[in-house]
Amino acid sequence: MEDCKLCMLVTFFLIITKMVATGKYIPTTLEGPFDPVTIRFDPSLRQGSDDIPMDDPRLKKNVTSMFPEQIALALSTPTSMWVSWVTGDAQIGSNVTALDPTSVASEVWYGKESGKYTNKKTGNATVYSQLYLFEGLLNYTSGIIHHVRIDGLEPGTKYYYKCGDSSLPAMSDEHVFETLLLPGPNSYPRRIALIGDLGLTSNSSTTIDHLTRNDPSLILMVGDLTYANQYLTTGGKGVPCFSCAFPDAPIRETYQPRWDGWGRFMKPLISRVPMMVIEGNHEIEPQVAGITFKSYLTRFAVPAEESGSNTNFYYSFDAGGVHVIMLGAYVDYNSTGAQYAWLKEDLHKVDRMVTPWLVAAMHPPWYNSYSSHYQEFECMRLEMEELLYQYGVDIIFSGHVHAYERMNRVYNYTLHACGPVYITVGDGGNIEKVDVDHADDPGKCPSEGHNIPEFGGVCHLNFSSGPAKGKFCWDRQPEWSAFRESSFGHGILEVLNSTYALWTWHRNQDIYKEESSGDQLYIVRQPELCSPSTSLKVIFHFNIRELLFNSLFYFSCGKRIEVSLKRDPMRLSKERKQKKVQRYLQNGRGFCHCSS
Ligand SMILES: [Fe+2]
Repeated sequence: MEDCKLCMLVTFFLIITKMVATGKYIPTTLEGPFDPVTIRFDPSLRQGSDDIPMDDPRLKKNVTSMFPEQIALALSTPTSMWVSWVTGDAQIGSNVTALDPTSVASEVWYGKESGKYTNKKTGNATVYSQLYLFEGLLNYTSGIIHHVRIDGLEPGTKYYYKCGDSSLPAMSDEHVFETLLLPGPNSYPRRIALIGDLGLTSNSSTTIDHLTRNDPSLILMVGDLTYANQYLTTGGKGVPCFSCAFPDAPIRETYQPRWDGWGRFMKPLISRVPMMVIEGNHEIEPQVAGITFKSYLTRFAVPAEESGSNTNFYYSFDAGGVHVIMLGAYVDYNSTGAQYAWLKEDLHKVDRMVTPWLVAAMHPPWYNSYSSHYQEFECMRLEMEELLYQYGVDIIFSGHVHAYERMNRVYNYTLHACGPVYITVGDGGNIEKVDVDHADDPGKCPSEGHNIPEFGGVCHLNFSSGPAKGKFCWDRQPEWSAFRESSFGHGILEVLNSTYALWTWHRNQDIYKEESSGDQLYIVRQPELCSPSTSLKVIFHFNIRELLFNSLFYFSCGKRIEVSLKRDPMRLSKERKQKKVQRYLQNGRGFCHCSS
């Protein structure tokens, strides 16, 4: 209890410090639900921009032969890290020959002092090809992609590393990263950055510059990474709309060298800050024999085995006291499928005393009031939302919609004090431009044929209650949408302790402003009210003459976990007791008080 008082004092101090430093009041979710706010796109800004060309110095290969390039980090376990890189030359042409991945070793040398590498680990190398069997389309085969898992790392410690093949010799320059703290209720990453739908335009470049200035210790990339599928296989210029520009293309083509350019562009950041990715629709990239997702699956190392998912399509990891679940929207998400079974098991294993914060991320949003992708992934929400809610997931991030939106706490389209906070950050700055229309704008409600997902079914629904009852679209910003703005940007999550986290959405146009934010609030957990693992003891008092018993209930955010009776002179069955009490409460009679 004393610890808890101390936590409250520290939190209060941090909030006051922030208020004094910024001179503004930052609201908390405890004050929600908030009245919906819309900020429309500023027409003085660019709604989109062209892709950065391949001959830009940031995208060009700047090493020779088998020297490593495109170096990237990803979290594995709390004491281990994935290091990935590429060697050799990718090829593009009518006939391509895959490189031999055994021709070069995969080594990482690392240690706690610059230039002193006390540890060495080896790993695996692979290649992939993107092949098209259509006349005139070019094929691609990648450089050699290396993945090495380094372990035995100490928490909160700087490590210096080189990667490559020492026998050639072809080792990289020295790079450095800092490990996160071990999972625990008092240890959190300094800043977790959220980016979605980044692409590789000049807007993307501003996003990454801005994010780098915000000094993250971990990056969550919620899908749609390179937009290599906005190109023909012959390269040329990328387009905002592939089917509009190339209506006769025999397949959704890609220009795979964009992936290599993106890897080089991102390397200065992600060779020192781990980046966790999840697939978006732009990663599907169909090719010969119905093969999909080849680039995404081959280029990135993720803690798939470590989290028991054994697939890069969905996985989980701990970042200090935050358990993060990356969900796959373009792979079976039905309640009868493998992902759902894994998710259930993963959620069951989470110990909220060790990782109090539970965060999920996926590419498409379930809650979205923009016209773009409106209700597109209703089928996935219907399959999975209840499970995430039952386990008290705190925040759910997504992208896909190229704008920003933060929801009020919501569950099943109903405002709910214990529902997750949903946040859409698909505003990274890709070539497809920012989304500006809302489904509630006059004439902007999508029709039946719109917003068909690339994977899964269509479950468009009319609302069954509330102000939009019987309708597909609202006639104003929905009550579950707290704040939406059409602008490019990224987010930063700063977890302060086991109950408070500061969420800040940064707009690209504010990059050079001090202490500016497009949206900011404290997300506050209420484990005593909402978390199943620390369910509150709720004692209901009834008119004993009316019901002839007192009941002791264990409630978790309105969801009954267990019922037991203190006195039961009527000897009713358990079901009848439950029904009787439910009816009593529904009629607005009786009251409860809470004791911890
Ligand atoms: Fe997308």
